[in-house]
Amino acid sequence: MPVPETLRRLLKPPITQAWPGLIDSYRPWLPVTDRTPVVSLGEGATPLVPAPALEQRLGRGIRVWLKVDGLNPTGSFKDRGMTMAVSKAKEDGAEAVICASTGNTSAAAAAYARRGGMRAYVLIPDGYVAQGKLAQALVYGAEVLAVKGNFDRALAIVREVAERYPVTLVNSLNPYRLQGQKTAAFEIVDVLGDAPDWLCIPMGNAGNITAYWMGFQEYRQNGRSRGLPRMMGFQAAGAAPLVSGTTVEDPETVATAIRIGNPANRARALQVREESGGGFAAISDEAILEAYRFLASQEGVFCEPASAASVAGLLSRAEEVPAGARVVCVLTGNGLKDPGTALENGSAGFHAGLQPDLETVARVLGF
Ligand code: F0G
Repeated sequence: MPVPETLRRLLKPPITQAWPGLIDSYRPWLPVTDRTPVVSLGEGATPLVPAPALEQRLGRGIRVWLKVDGLNPTGSFKDRGMTMAVSKAKEDGAEAVICASTGNTSAAAAAYARRGGMRAYVLIPDGYVAQGKLAQALVYGAEVLAVKGNFDRALAIVREVAERYPVTLVNSLNPYRLQGQKTAAFEIVDVLGDAPDWLCIPMGNAGNITAYWMGFQEYRQNGRSRGLPRMMGFQAAGAAPLVSGTTVEDPETVATAIRIGNPANRARALQVREESGGGFAAISDEAILEAYRFLASQEGVFCEPASAASVAGLLSRAEEVPAGARVVCVLTGNGLKDPGTALENGSAGFHAGLQPDLETVARVLGF
């Protein structure tokens, strides 16, 4: 398999240059010029990790890789979009950015805005953002406004604010976000040598599935791949407007990142499903958490609950996967983002309050 140019630069020993971030790595594919001030934290080039335990569970020679995008600088795929959105905002002379967020977008917006010397304003649903994400936005130095309403309400407000006041919207309605995020599809093709047969991905606002599809299509149009994947999008059962076809007024799920009832990119997501011959499905919180624990305990990969929806979704549609197919599951965010859910779901092996002596320890170990 030929090593693509972007990777060859990294692999050629001795490695004298760090990965420069995705704008400089994929510059010809992105709407930037020499005048664009690149605001980067070294995002992109995340690992594509084989998943042998999942492969064994699926059988029939199916190959599975995990795109571990939680290893981006702020711990989620949002960094891909934010390096673009913030660089372009800076190019346009913006002094502040604003977003609504279930958590990850706010962390990324805060980090990149501050890096670019801009202010960041973030609106989050009060009480429904995982602790790690809130901590990030605060420490990066954003103004965090927790509103008594869900993400959909917060998004409606920030859209209006951005229309009326001098502040740039950096939700996925900002076209530069999706431009940055499409590079994840490039990286997958660069490593596999072709597009996978299936791409499994969680959906909230449905920007990311739209961005991946754009990336796969552009690479194929330019001869970088032969095929295109079926785009398989998964939502939490309590927040599945793209599956049911109707807006969900009060979305509920343990996967707070995708607790969204009225996706901004609804029409585009439906188009992606149509064009790719893909499918959408709703996944119960129980199935999401089962996949979450499985990934951590059997594959050694700790993602956040929303991300595990891609794997739970794959397992729910396993019978439809052709024998020998190549499948990529996108793990959008890092497990450390949501320590609360982790502690509630991984405590079986926790033995607290032990006497500090050999006898006690040996007994608990079963020796
Ligand atoms: N996975 C994670 C970890 C997310 O944070 C999100 C979205 C998604 C999947 C869904 O991506 O919206 O492009 O379909 N999080 C947004 C946020 C809404 O505010 O951080 P999508």
